[in-house]
Amino acid sequence: MFSFRNSSPRQIALLTAFLLAIPETLILWLVEHKIGWALICFATVFVMSYLLISFMLDRFVYRQIKLIYKFIYKTKATKREETYYKYLIPKKTIEEVGVDVENWAAENEMELELLRHNEQFRREFLQNLSHEFKTPVFAIQGYVDTLLDGAMEDPATAKRFLERTAKNVHRLTHLLTDLDQIAKLERGEIVVTKEPFVMQELIQEVFETKLTKAEKKQISCRIKKESESPVLVFADKEKIRQVLTNLISNAIKYGKQGGEVVASVYKTDGKRILIEITDDGVGIPEAELPRVFERFYRTEAGRSMDLTGSGLGLSICKHILEAHGQSIHVRSTENIGTTFGFTLESKPD
Ligand SMILES: Nc1ncnc2c1ncn2[C@@H]1O[C@H](COP(=O)(O)OP(=O)(O)OP(=O)(O)O)[C@@H](O)[C@H]1O
Ligand SMILES: [Mg+2]
Repeated sequence: MFSFRNSSPRQIALLTAFLLAIPETLILWLVEHKIGWALICFATVFVMSYLLISFMLDRFVYRQIKLIYKFIYKTKATKREETYYKYLIPKKTIEEVGVDVENWAAENEMELELLRHNEQFRREFLQNLSHEFKTPVFAIQGYVDTLLDGAMEDPATAKRFLERTAKNVHRLTHLLTDLDQIAKLERGEIVVTKEPFVMQELIQEVFETKLTKAEKKQISCRIKKESESPVLVFADKEKIRQVLTNLISNAIKYGKQGGEVVASVYKTDGKRILIEITDDGVGIPEAELPRVFERFYRTEAGRSMDLTGSGLGLSICKHILEAHGQSIHVRSTENIGTTFGFTLESKPD
C-alpha cells in the first residue's frame, strides 16, 4: 500500500504529477477523441508538474530540513556532509527524518541529564568540602584565640589546648592528603606497580598497626581458620596496604565493643583472589549501601560513632582497586555486621 508518510519527496512529486496529468488527459480525450494529443498532454503535464513540484519541495521544504540538519549537527557542512545533504536527505522519507530528529533530541536530553548530574555533584562536593574544612579550622581558631587571650599563662591548659590544636591540624593534613590522592587517582596519575606478595602476611601487618585501636574496644582481629594457608597475589603492595588499612580501621571504628574483625582469603576462578573483611558492628542500612563509596558519604550511625572521619576512605579504596582492574563490594545487615570484599589478580605459586 502506498503511504505518503513513508515516501521520499521524489515519489511524492511523481505521484502528484501523475494525479494532476490524468484529468487533463481524460478531458482532452473525451472532447477531442484524439489519443495522440491526449498522450502528448499527459506527458507534458506530467513532466512539467513533476519538475515544478520537485523544485518547490526542494526549495521550500528540503532546504529547511537541510538547515535543521545542519543545526542539529552544529557544523558548517564539510564536503562529505554536502554529499549527504544533496543526495541522501532528499531520498529520506519524512518518517526517517522524524526518527533522526527524535534520536538527536534523545541524545541531547542525555547530555543535559549528565550536565545536570555533574552540576549537582559539583555543588554537593563543594558543600561537603567546606563542611569538612570548617570543623577543624574553627576549632584551631578557637584554641589559638583562647591561648592568646591568656590561657598560655597556665602551662597545663596551654599543653592541653596545643594538643587539641595539633589533633585538628593533623585532621586537616589527613583530609588534604586524601583529597590530593583522589584527584591524582581520578586523573590517572597514580601508577600501579605490581609485585607478588603473600596476602595473609600483609593482612597480619595491618592488624598489628591497628592493635591499640582494637584493644581500646576489646575487638579481636584474626584471619579465618580456613584461609590461613598462604596465598600469593600480584598487586601494588603499598596501595593494597592502604585499602586494607581503611577497611580494617572502619571495621574497628564501626564495630561493636568486644566484637571481632575477621579477614578471609579465597581463591576463586584460578585467576582471581577474593579478600573479605567482616565485622559484627552497627552495619549499614540497605538503601545506603551503594552510596558508601561516594566521596564524603557517611551514614548516620557512622557519624555518631566516629567524629573524625571524612568519608573519603572507601572512595580511595574503590579508585585503587579500579586502577588494578578489580572491584570492591559490600554487604551488610544493620546491627549484625558488614562485609567488604575485593578481588585481586592471583600469582600462581
Ligand atoms: N565496617 C563498617 N560498618 C559500618 N559502617 C561502615 C563500615 N565501613 C564504612 N562504613 C560507613 O561508610 C562511611 C564511609 O566510609 P569511609 O571509610 O569512606 O569514611 P570514614 O571511615 O568515615 O572516614 P575516612 O575518610 O577517615 O576513612 C562511614 O562513615 C560509615 O558510615
Ligand atoms: Mg574509613
